Amino acid sequence: MKKINVGLIGFGTIGAGVAKILLENRQVISDRLGAELNLQKIADLDITTDRGVALPDGILTSDIEELIGNPEIDIIIELIGGYEPARTFVSRALKSKQSVVTANKALLAKHGNELFSLARENGVDFYYEASVAGGIPIIKVMRESLAGNNINSVCGILNGTCNYILSKMGDEGADFAEVLQKAQDLGYAEADPTFDIEGIDTAHKLAILTSLAFATPIDFDKIHVEGISAVKPVDFAFAQEFGYKIKLLAIAKKEDDCIETRVHPTMIPEKHMLAKIDDVYNAVFVNADALGPSLYYGQGAGMMATASAVVGDLVDIARNCLDKSLQRIPDLGFQVAAIKPQTYRPMSEIVSQYYLRFTVYDKTSVLSRIAGILGHNEISIASVIQQGRGPDGETVAVVMQTHKAKEKDLRAALAEIDKLSFIAAPTTVIRMESDL
Ligand code: HSE
Repeated sequence: MKKINVGLIGFGTIGAGVAKILLENRQVISDRLGAELNLQKIADLDITTDRGVALPDGILTSDIEELIGNPEIDIIIELIGGYEPARTFVSRALKSKQSVVTANKALLAKHGNELFSLARENGVDFYYEASVAGGIPIIKVMRESLAGNNINSVCGILNGTCNYILSKMGDEGADFAEVLQKAQDLGYAEADPTFDIEGIDTAHKLAILTSLAFATPIDFDKIHVEGISAVKPVDFAFAQEFGYKIKLLAIAKKEDDCIETRVHPTMIPEKHMLAKIDDVYNAVFVNADALGPSLYYGQGAGMMATASAVVGDLVDIARNCLDKSLQRIPDLGFQVAAIKPQTYRPMSEIVSQYYLRFTVYDKTSVLSRIAGILGHNEISIASVIQQGRGPDGETVAVVMQTHKAKEKDLRAALAEIDKLSFIAAPTTVIRMESDL
């Protein structure tokens, strides 16, 4: 039986999952591939810690040079994460005509365009299914299955840690720090959890999906990013009163030849399928012209789910190796000539409904002053809630839901409102999206 040799760089949580699948599911993989997918070498700086996987002797090494450029190794898996040395290792492997599989969304968001070029120049594959939404095969869907469609929008819950935290805060009124710690203990969070909490990890993934959807080079800097750290338990209670759930949503849509890309906490109607995605689960909601709406759901983080996506890529590339058809599928699903920079809508021009929570001293005329300022900035109020008093007995939360308004009008109104003497704290703003 033919053998395709694989070298793994990074023997952390996901790396251990990949090794486990390659060793324990060897039979089912070779039954599908018609060849053996052989884990030849694993490189890591730490080769002594037990990862709970029984490896054959001689596989582990701390010398990367035994993998990169080794003519016996056909495919390199990069699972060290981060920008460097991942970029250097991947570049060297591609230049050595080794195909590469990665789960590294940060690397792709920043250096994806350059690495795709290198893969093409060297006639090898560079696959990245595990980089977006963990185990959900969304890259394959967008790159291959939806090839006959124009994509209108892609929206997703793309960070398991944030979804876990928001679910627990909403359902159990749990404390933010305590839930974050639990997510870290379960191995969902990035090494630096600010990437999760501040929405950066989600934005890395959205940058990739935007390019797959709209045939544009990956451009992370065009994404507006807000994290979840400003969302308070009280916002979940108000969201429920309005019939909404709060999710960290990634949104990419194309309208009037303009692309809009943003990541922020979002209120979604409870009945929308994305509102039902809880815990560490991820989901991607795609609106395509021929298929219509479709939803892809599964585990977006964690050892075995992410490893499953990595091994799926390995099998795809191994098939291409056997078939001598590397580069059969374009990196972003479009021919290079079709990939063009596009116009992005500035955040000030986006239109949304808004949830506004004002923290005010409970005095006369408060509501009329706020309503007046919103009104002369073209913002129409859809509903208002005022409940009880704050813990200090002085401030009170006044909550409003607006009709659709322009972001720049909202910002102008809030700049005026937050200066008023009866405003006790900066106003909390959460966008509400009802027609995803
Ligand atoms: N930290 C990421 C998450 C892991 O929580 O979703 C997968 O990218």
